[in-house]
Amino acid sequence: WPRPLRDRHGRVATDLRVSLTDRCNLRCTYCMPADGLEWLGRDELLTSDELERLMRVAVSRLGITSVRLTGGEPLLRRDLTQVIAQVAALEPRPSIALTTNGIGLAARVEELRAAGLDRVNISLDTLDPDTFTQLTRRRRLPDVLAGVEAAVRAGIRPVKVNTVLMRGVNDHEAPDLLEWAMATGVQLRFIEQMPLDAQHGWSRHDMVTADEINESLSRRWRLVDDRAERGSAPAELFRVAGTAHRVGIIASVTRPFCGACDRVRLTADGQLRNCLFARTESDLRPLLRGGATDEEIAERWLTVVGGKRPGHGIDDPSFLQPDRPMSAIGG
Ligand code: GTP
Ligand code: 5AD
Ligand code: SF4
Repeated sequence: WPRPLRDRHGRVATDLRVSLTDRCNLRCTYCMPADGLEWLGRDELLTSDELERLMRVAVSRLGITSVRLTGGEPLLRRDLTQVIAQVAALEPRPSIALTTNGIGLAARVEELRAAGLDRVNISLDTLDPDTFTQLTRRRRLPDVLAGVEAAVRAGIRPVKVNTVLMRGVNDHEAPDLLEWAMATGVQLRFIEQMPLDAQHGWSRHDMVTADEINESLSRRWRLVDDRAERGSAPAELFRVAGTAHRVGIIASVTRPFCGACDRVRLTADGQLRNCLFARTESDLRPLLRGGATDEEIAERWLTVVGGKRPGHGIDDPSFLQPDRPMSAIGG
């Protein structure tokens, strides 16, 4: 030890994405059903101490250098500050990021930052209150905007905003969203919608492609390719010519970045997944709760990542969407 989390295709996982809860206070159509989802039970969720142990194993034995906390909505976890503080105390300290819908962030961002939070990505798909309500089935746009502004004010850099575009819903808003992002001081990233919704209603036709997004923005600005710095990041970055700003496009479907993937995921109920689109999961709870050693946990982890497939396979005729929606897998 340490032993890197290497798979058979030469990739090494160094980025751990941890879902803290499957619950959310929004119901975005591309992620959750309007109702009828069954939440994980209290005993099924990993406790903060169990999370701490797994992250310690990941950091000290398996070369994980960055941790991203996701959900569901991670701000719904009451012990989020404690979780962040526990991660921040690990050696070597990983970078700590949060992916959130921003609701409730304004009230807590200072506290989270003091506990060790380094970066925040916030999901926001529209600036129009009615479209927001149609898309998320909740009237919370002002709370989200307050969260974005608070994160910027707290000095978090960069604050990234994630926007999933949907045809006929919010795709016409792309240039206005970029205008807003530049004025607010956040880095906007447009995301191609992936087949991860609870209703299994994704269709390639409704997906707004990276090329379409680029075209739409290029009617207002000149975008200059900034791809050199990309590394394993999902976003292709563009400089907005004549400004100091950059905008990202995450082309998960039309230009997959699986070849450079450095991720591994842990769900809120302790399932290790080697891919967002993995068909199998490995339950770490029996190990955690049954007295396994750190070494045994680390060995399981190496096996899981070892079996990672080369890509998401969305284009394969035999593609099957994961059984769990994005909200349960972790964004
Ligand atoms: P940064 O480190 O800030 O670049 O984070 P990120 O972009 O990896 O994280 P974020 O949680 O903000 O995710 C943004 C989007 O990237 C998500 O909406 C997904 O669409 C996409 N994404 C994140 N992880 C994966 C992944 O493992 N595979 C694929 N295909 N897409 C992913
Ligand atoms: N396709 C693409 N992105 C998605 N997200 C949630 N569901 C999907 C999907 N089906 C995004 C959210 C959030 C991030 C974690 O994932 O908007 O920003
Ligand atoms: Fe990595 Fe799977 Fe995401 Fe591709 S789809 S980038 S392999 S986690």
